Amino acid sequence: MEKQKRYLIKTYGCQMNVHESEKLSGILEQMGYTLADTETDADLILFNTCAIRESAEQKIYSHIGELKKYKKQRKDMIIAVCGCMSQQQKAAENIMTKYPFVDIVFGTHNIAKLKELIEKRQQSKKRVLSIVETEDIKERDGMPKVRTSGYNAWVNITYGCNNFCTYCIVPYVRGREVSRPLSDIVGEVEGLLKEGYKKITLLGQNVNSYGNDLNDEDQTFAKLLKAIDNLPYDFWLSFMTSHPKDISFEVLDTIASSKHIMHYLHLPVQSGSDNVLKAMNRRYTASDYLKKIDYAKNKISDIEFSSDIIVGFPGETEEDFNDTLKLISKVKYSQLFTFIYSKRRGTVAEKMENQIELKIKKERLARLIEKQNEIATLEAQKYIGKTLEVLVEGKLKNKNKLIATSKCGKNVQLEGSDELLGKFIKVRVESSKLTVLFAKEEK
Ligand code: SAH
Ligand code: SF4
Ligand code: F3S
Repeated sequence: MEKQKRYLIKTYGCQMNVHESEKLSGILEQMGYTLADTETDADLILFNTCAIRESAEQKIYSHIGELKKYKKQRKDMIIAVCGCMSQQQKAAENIMTKYPFVDIVFGTHNIAKLKELIEKRQQSKKRVLSIVETEDIKERDGMPKVRTSGYNAWVNITYGCNNFCTYCIVPYVRGREVSRPLSDIVGEVEGLLKEGYKKITLLGQNVNSYGNDLNDEDQTFAKLLKAIDNLPYDFWLSFMTSHPKDISFEVLDTIASSKHIMHYLHLPVQSGSDNVLKAMNRRYTASDYLKKIDYAKNKISDIEFSSDIIVGFPGETEEDFNDTLKLISKVKYSQLFTFIYSKRRGTVAEKMENQIELKIKKERLARLIEKQNEIATLEAQKYIGKTLEVLVEGKLKNKNKLIATSKCGKNVQLEGSDELLGKFIKVRVESSKLTVLFAKEEK
């Protein structure tokens, strides 16, 4: 009997990529591959890459480089690279020339063709480079999936992005925005709920512009949320990412009146300065943003927010940065994802003058994190003594503790038996540390 082939996928970047790796695993398992434990027993290693910041790319290059030694021992091993980094022509060529032991390089638009690419490599002596600009979305939707995130299931609602924020590589490597038909999405979600998934997370670079390309008033983001909310199962619904310019009051009202939508919103602001927001092409002001936050807080009293912030965008002055500090003090995010601006090839901001020195960027990042830690600590302490509804999602590694998420997106740890896994329960918060809440089941 032929030995069973084994695979490993290394995933970098955002949830979109995590979900795409679930689809790539789907194809590999259909081809008869099973998951390997380590690099040494893998017959195929696939890197699903990210290009959002230079640091991400550098890390990936060094990880690819480390595989040379395995390939020397095992000539028949296949090494493949796909995703946002390799979608860039220059990066793809660079991998082909500098890493001769890489067998296959492809991008973001032809992941559904993984089987054909592997077969092409196996049938010829040549290495395979295949970067394309367009794709058949139905084919990508139809890919089998090996889901890996427990009780949560990711569901794509759009692919690509039309926003062209001046710092961002995503529109260049993911193409223009395409929405899936509403009925396909609702059908996929219903299937997942029947299978027993407890949390559904809708994915898109800008979920709020869902349907803009469909030109059908029955297929909007608010209508999609309502259609899913009406499904008769016990579950929570979440989505990412929302764009502040596009999230409508109707969507906020829909969250307020829904049964299943989480009271948690990731609404990346990027900066608190109107000058910087304009230069970033974000198309909202700090005051537009705060109006939406206030509206949501009024309608949904227990709502929590998180955000992404970039420090050191070209031209950012000390005053601009202080506006960001002021904004985060007003919103009081429960969590913040903070980044140092990184120049990306081909973007508008790459050519901007007044690039900020790394030393200043680092210093601003440290101040931002310090301020946010103060805010998050105080925000978490507010929950002490309160009762929360949580979904028990997993176990803490090496400890006999359960990890759960509250309906407002807080991370909760508690003691309890494995029987609670996958259940919605009520807990009472006893203490907190930074953003994490420690609780006991309320019986
Ligand atoms: N579509 C989502 C996610 C984009 S990428 C959105 O619009 O929010 C995730 C985050 O990475 C962005 O929100 C931004 O904060 C950060 N980011 C993107 N490009 C960057 C760059 N060139 N340098 C530093 N951070 C960047
Ligand atoms: Fe990038 Fe802006 Fe699109 Fe988000 S909305 S992916 S930050 S261009
Ligand atoms: Fe995501 Fe990175 Fe691509 S953040 S969309 S994997 S560039």
